[in-house]
This record gives sequence, C-alpha cells and structure tokens, in this order.
Amino acid sequence: MIVGIPKEIKNNESRVGMTPAGVFELVKNNHTVYVQSTAGEGSGFFNKDYQQAGAVILDTIAEVYAKSEMIVKVKEPIAEEYDLIQEGQLLFTYFHFASSEPLTKAMIKQKAICIAYETVEDDEGTLPLLTPMSEVAGRMAIQQGAKYLEKPVKGRGVLLGGVPGVAPGRVLVLGAGVVGIQAAKMAAGLGAHVTIMDINMKRLRYANDVMPPHVVTEFSNEYNIRKHIKSHDLIIGGVLLKGAKAPNLITRDMLKEMRPGTVIVDVAVDQGGCVETTKPTTHEDPIYIIDDVVHYSVANMPGAVPYTSTVALTNVTLPYALKLANLGWKEACEKDASLKKGLNIVSGKVVYEEIIEAFGWEEAFA
Ligand SMILES: NC(=O)c1ccc[n+]([C@@H]2O[C@H](COP(=O)([O-])OP(=O)(O)OC[C@H]3O[C@@H](n4cnc5c(N)ncnc54)[C@H](O)[C@@H]3O)[C@@H](O)[C@H]2O)c1
Repeated sequence: MIVGIPKEIKNNESRVGMTPAGVFELVKNNHTVYVQSTAGEGSGFFNKDYQQAGAVILDTIAEVYAKSEMIVKVKEPIAEEYDLIQEGQLLFTYFHFASSEPLTKAMIKQKAICIAYETVEDDEGTLPLLTPMSEVAGRMAIQQGAKYLEKPVKGRGVLLGGVPGVAPGRVLVLGAGVVGIQAAKMAAGLGAHVTIMDINMKRLRYANDVMPPHVVTEFSNEYNIRKHIKSHDLIIGGVLLKGAKAPNLITRDMLKEMRPGTVIVDVAVDQGGCVETTKPTTHEDPIYIIDDVVHYSVANMPGAVPYTSTVALTNVTLPYALKLANLGWKEACEKDASLKKGLNIVSGKVVYEEIIEAFGWEEAFA
C-alpha cells in the first residue's frame, strides 16, 4: 500500500502521525511511505531520519494526499485539507466527528474511508488509542499543578513535596481512571499527600492495591468532595462518563470554600470539565483566576510535549496501521473487531450510530 504522512496544519499541533520507527516497519513490509517535508520536526524527527527509515520525502501536502492510498495523521483534517481527500482514500486519525457537523459532512462528501482512533475499542471496552494521551495528560497535570502552586503565578506558595519539618502539599484527584491514576502516581512520587476519589469501587480497589500508603482512596460524593476541597492545595479533574458531558463535581459556590491560591487542573475540560467554572484555555494562555482559585484547563495538554505524545501515540497506532496496509481496510476490519469499531464513515455513509444520533439525523446518507 502507499501510505502518506502529511504535516499537521491545525493551529499549535506539533505531533506527527508516524515516527521513523513506524516508517521502518511499513517499509519492511514492502509498503511505500511518503512523508511531507518537515512533518516530524515539531516532534524532533527530521527528514533525514525518515529517509534513513526508507520514506520518500515530498514537498507539499497536496502531493502527499494525491499519491497515497492511506493517510495516517494525528488530528482531524481541517477545512484546507478537505478537497485534497480523494474518493475511496483511507484516513486513519483522530476525528471526534460527533463534535463537528461540518467535518462529518465534508468527509461524507469526499467519500473517504474514515477510521477514527477514538472509537477503536478492545474486548474489555477500553479505548486503546485514547489511553496514551490520557497517560500523558494525567502525568502532566501534576507538573503543571506544581508550577501554578508557586506564588509568582498566584498559587498558594506550596511545594508539593514539602521539606523536612514541613508537611507536603495535598492533592485531590477526582476520578481513578487513566488520568487519575497517572496523576496520583506522579503526585505520590513527588512526596505529596494524595486523596483519589471515584464512584467505581473496582477502580478504588485497584488504586488502593497499587499506590503507596500516602495515597488514600475515598468514595466520590458531594459530601466528601466538599470536605476535602478545604484542605487540598491542588485538585485534578480526571472524571469521564462515556459519551456524556462530565458531571459538575465542583460547583461555583465551592470555590469560596477553598483556600486562596488553590489550583484546579481540570483535565476533563474536553468533555466540558468537572468544575462548573471550567472553560477551555490554550498553552499560550493556560490559566485564569476566579475567587482566588487558579484554573488550568488546556484542552490539548499532550500538545505541549509533542515528542513524548507522538511516540506514545504511534506505539499504539502502528500495529493497526500495519494491519490496514497489509490487508486493506475491508479485510483488516473483518479480521479485527477492535479496528472495525473504528470505522465511522465509509464511502459517503456514516456507519457509527452515535454520530447520527449526535446530530439528530434521520439517516446515514449514502
Ligand atoms: N485536556 C486534555 O488534554 C486531555 C487529554 C487526555 C484526556 N482528557 C480527558 O480526561 C478525562 C478522563 O479521561 P480518562 O482516560 O482518565 O477516563 P477513564 O474512563 O479512564 O476514567 C474516568 C474515571 O472517572 C470516574 N468517574 C465517573 N464519574 C465520577 C464521579 N462522579 N466522581 C469520581 N469519579 C468519577 C470513572 O469511574 C472512571 O474511573 C476525559 O474527559 C478525557 O477526554 C483530556
């Protein structure tokens, strides 16, 4: 198969759809790989690295789309890319169709085959192509939280690890899923006292089993949350209700209960946030303050660490990309039920029920 790796042109996106290691595997399997010049630079991979791995470098994005049967990307195509997509071309990337009707209609019009990373689902119902980004965001949440607890940026002036003779900072983690566990682990590693909450007892049992004794688990309910926000310095929002808006676990009135300089990192911002006062921010302007509480709610946290994020993402996408290249999308989806769940749009027809429901459409188009 001929595989194309275009440069991401969405604002502030420095990740790339494939590393030189991925190119090497595809070429080893007798596929041709075209990489757009400088596509990997933002992630620390240069043209010569791709060439050494066996890729052919093309100058423009138009050439990559025109010559490739399968496009492997990170973000959904943006408007400038729509017309570059050809009928029957296979696109393997994050799409998040339900949040964009124009994108969905554009892909229907182009008659592409769209396999969305975010809906590839394994036997246990987990989303293997979303997990690495949650791992990155969970770990980063503590790094960012620790920074914004510093006084010059309006934080409480607390060092999370404390020092001999001074108690460590306290971190409250809402949600013991992928984000929550990674955040708790990083905070514990810094020596902070950590309280992690969930409504799922299995997740709390797991956290209780694997975490050190200074990480305590507690059932998530309003009473317990109200109790802990008064004494914790850093609050991490890592809650997810599949397919729904995140619940508002921290309401506006609760901010007054917190001590001035408390920091909230609401990682769940991309699902609306689990804090009533959360609004999406960017890496250029990541925080805002309400009632003396610092809010950090960057919607694409992994974008700040493109090297780690690109490698983490491509580690999990490559086996699927290889399967698609080796077998073609039809046979690959027939043989692999996880990949089949990733099929969202096929030749002008929406095949993923939730997208049709999200827009209240009567039909899938054809
Ligand atoms: N901002 C970013 O850059 C970024 C990056 C990656 C992920 N995310 C987001 O982070 C959020 C968490 O992702 P995840 O992969 O950890 O999800 P996950 O499904 O692994 O974990 C979510 C957890 O929340 C728990 N939960 C549900 N309701 C709760 C409640 N009322 N109280 C406490 N816990 C509750 C669930 O039981 C589950 O354990 C998602 O919204 C995801 O989209 C954001």
